[in-house]
Amino acid sequence: MRVLVTGGSGYIGSHTCVALMAQGHEVVILDNLHNSKRSVLRAMTSLSGRAPIFIEGDVRDAGLLTSLFATQSVDSVIHFAGLKAVGESVSQPLAYYDNNVTGTLTLLQAMQVAGVRQFIFSSSATVYGDQPQVPYAESFPTGQPASPYGRSKLMVEQLLTDLAQADPRWHIALLRYFNPVGAHPSGEMGEDPQGIPNNLMPYIAQVAVGRRPSLAVFGDDYPTPDGTGVRDYIHVMDLAEGHIAAMQTTAARPGAHVYNLGSGEGHSVLEVIHAFSQACGKAIPWHVEPRRAGDLPAYWAATDKARHELHWHTRLTLNDMAHDTWRWQSSHPQGYEDAP
Ligand code: NAD
Ligand code: UD1
Repeated sequence: MRVLVTGGSGYIGSHTCVALMAQGHEVVILDNLHNSKRSVLRAMTSLSGRAPIFIEGDVRDAGLLTSLFATQSVDSVIHFAGLKAVGESVSQPLAYYDNNVTGTLTLLQAMQVAGVRQFIFSSSATVYGDQPQVPYAESFPTGQPASPYGRSKLMVEQLLTDLAQADPRWHIALLRYFNPVGAHPSGEMGEDPQGIPNNLMPYIAQVAVGRRPSLAVFGDDYPTPDGTGVRDYIHVMDLAEGHIAAMQTTAARPGAHVYNLGSGEGHSVLEVIHAFSQACGKAIPWHVEPRRAGDLPAYWAATDKARHELHWHTRLTLNDMAHDTWRWQSSHPQGYEDAP
């Protein structure tokens, strides 16, 4: 298939593009480089043995989209482009609704005009909000996401559900990621957060490589086995394969279908620190700080639906996630370094 990947030079997008090309798909990337660097394209090309088509531009640019669909004969769209920092979304809600909601709407309008109606959307487990039981299943009613970021994801899910109901020619997958971590096993691609990392694994990696002195563990008094927060971590390469499985299944099934992409297992913050220490061969300095506002104690994914309908499940373990993150971080301590 010929796949338009918006946000394809970002963290999850770049790994998905490499996985797509490894399976013989053609890739067209649209990215405005707001949160990614051009040098990821070199890594993708060297790992794939061929270059993706790269278009620098914004998903909110309707004119650009019209000419893109007129010239590229796209079969399917995987839509990663958007903003993802939860804290920033609280202080800049308009930027988040504009990028994540208006951006998606503009893209869907251009697709409708072009007659391209297969769409894979990056949603998030955050749309579940706080549920009375775990694991979180797709059949649960969505909850109250704790931030404008989370609400932007829920709005797009609702928009896509309405679209599929109104026009049965659309084939849509809503993929709710749990906690994506890890890096390409080559060590040539990985997560490259700008500034201070918001998320656990990249923070630990920067402590391990000496860029930060100590990890703050946000709360050790949760009702979990060791008192620290429990999450469902998923290796980015497994996540990439999940997109391809969803794209293939969705091609044969009209409607909007929701899938969790997670491992089905929870790991605590202390377990992640331990796995990382083993991977890098040194102790990770850490200290306890108060709970972070908006954090939940523990949740993980129900995986049966993705397993049965997408014929997909995760294969890589927490140790793989830690080893691959360390391989990337230790060989690229400052992340991607673009030539001026
Ligand atoms: P990322 O920031 O690394 O990648 C997003 C890419 O989109 C970047 O390359 C950025 O430059 C580009 N982009 C942003 N706004 C754009 C616009 N208006 N037009 C064109 N390009 C634009 O993020 P990621 O971690 O790869 O996440 C990808 C998607 O998955 C996002 O939609 C995110 O909300 C969602 N998601 C991520 C996580 C996670 O933990 N990483 C979890 C759940 C959902
Ligand atoms: C966060 C977002 C969530 C988003 C997800 C994407 C918040 C509140 N939630 O989820 O909306 O969909 O990223 O992956 O930002 N932790 C520490 N120290 C740190 C960082 C994290 O102890 O420096 C703990 C957290 O309290 C949590 C666990 O590590 O228990 C995982 O945190 P993180 O990686 O930020 O992911 P989430 O909070 O699950």
